[in-house]
Amino acid sequence: MSSTVLVTGGAGFIGSHVVPLLLERGDRVRLMDNMSRGDRGRVAEWVATGRVELVEQDVRYGGAVHRAMSGCDQVVHLAAVSINKSEADPYESVDINIVGSNNVFKAAADHGVRRVVFASSASVYGDPDRLPMAEDDPLDPLTPYCVAKHTGEQLLAYYARRSAMTWIALRFFNVYGPGQKPTAYYTSVINHFVQRLRSGEAPVIDGKGEQSMDFVHVHDIARAVVMALDVDAARANLPINIGTGIDTSVAELARTLIDAVGVDVEPQFRPRDVLVSRRMADISRALDVLGWKPTIDVRTGMQDLVDSEIG
Ligand SMILES: NC(=O)c1ccc[n+]([C@@H]2O[C@H](COP(=O)([O-])OP(=O)(O)OC[C@H]3O[C@@H](n4cnc5c(N)ncnc54)[C@H](O)[C@@H]3O)[C@@H](O)[C@H]2O)c1
Repeated sequence: MSSTVLVTGGAGFIGSHVVPLLLERGDRVRLMDNMSRGDRGRVAEWVATGRVELVEQDVRYGGAVHRAMSGCDQVVHLAAVSINKSEADPYESVDINIVGSNNVFKAAADHGVRRVVFASSASVYGDPDRLPMAEDDPLDPLTPYCVAKHTGEQLLAYYARRSAMTWIALRFFNVYGPGQKPTAYYTSVINHFVQRLRSGEAPVIDGKGEQSMDFVHVHDIARAVVMALDVDAARANLPINIGTGIDTSVAELARTLIDAVGVDVEPQFRPRDVLVSRRMADISRALDVLGWKPTIDVRTGMQDLVDSEIG
């Protein structure tokens, strides 16, 4: 059944992979984005299909969100400012990531929207005590951004108790892939290594490179978003991890990228005391509830990225 889907922040990195999947399944898309980081060229191509409408507005304005919500059956809420900006400017972060999210969820409940899919984040867990990280593990959000993601999940639960709306919060792990901005917080290390390798220099790793991330390809993220729109209401109203279930250390990443770029160098290790943080998702709930599992492994995904664009 095709829907009219409101996608907030849809002109950004993840949105640019979600919108084509929605169009493929026959939906109409209303994109609400203030274009602070959006890709205008891409949006113009979608608008030309006649099935995408751009509402160039800010989620901080409740009235604008209400108007944009009118006639939509489903919502994908991606608009947010990133974790590093949240430390530099907590006021803006709270405004966009908490007040903005509240505007979106309240309007969705008021307009009879049947499903909201919210871009939450693995950062709600803080530094985990054990791996893999499961949805019922204790949460310890460490920055205003992480607090906002946690609050967003709780606000969804609140509105769902008072309306027909159902929700799924996808806790994305370390998303990478074509279209990512080089400044992306966790994954900037990919861009940094690739830049060095392209000029024939070895990647430099602080400490032993043991800190790890769960790198998940943006195409798999977009698939999860669309699958979360379709899940039966009886199975909704919960957070779901979206990662690969594999932790890749910075040292392994360096070796993977050396192979992908195809240069004959060895990573250099710079002795440092490094706080070793590790990330690895338990993805059993994603399989159980969404029927989702990742399709792109890190080696293939990094090769695809190197071949496609960055640098
Ligand atoms: N990329 C990741 O690794 C990652 C990991 C976990 C969670 N997430 C979450 O996924 C979502 C999408 O992330 P992304 O990587 O595509 O980010 P992005 O910055 O590329 O996209 C965000 C979009 O939101 C828009 N936007 C920002 N503030 C807005 C506002 N006030 N009103 C309307 N639009 C606004 C921007 O113009 C941009 O197009 C975010 O909620 C992010 O927190 C991303």
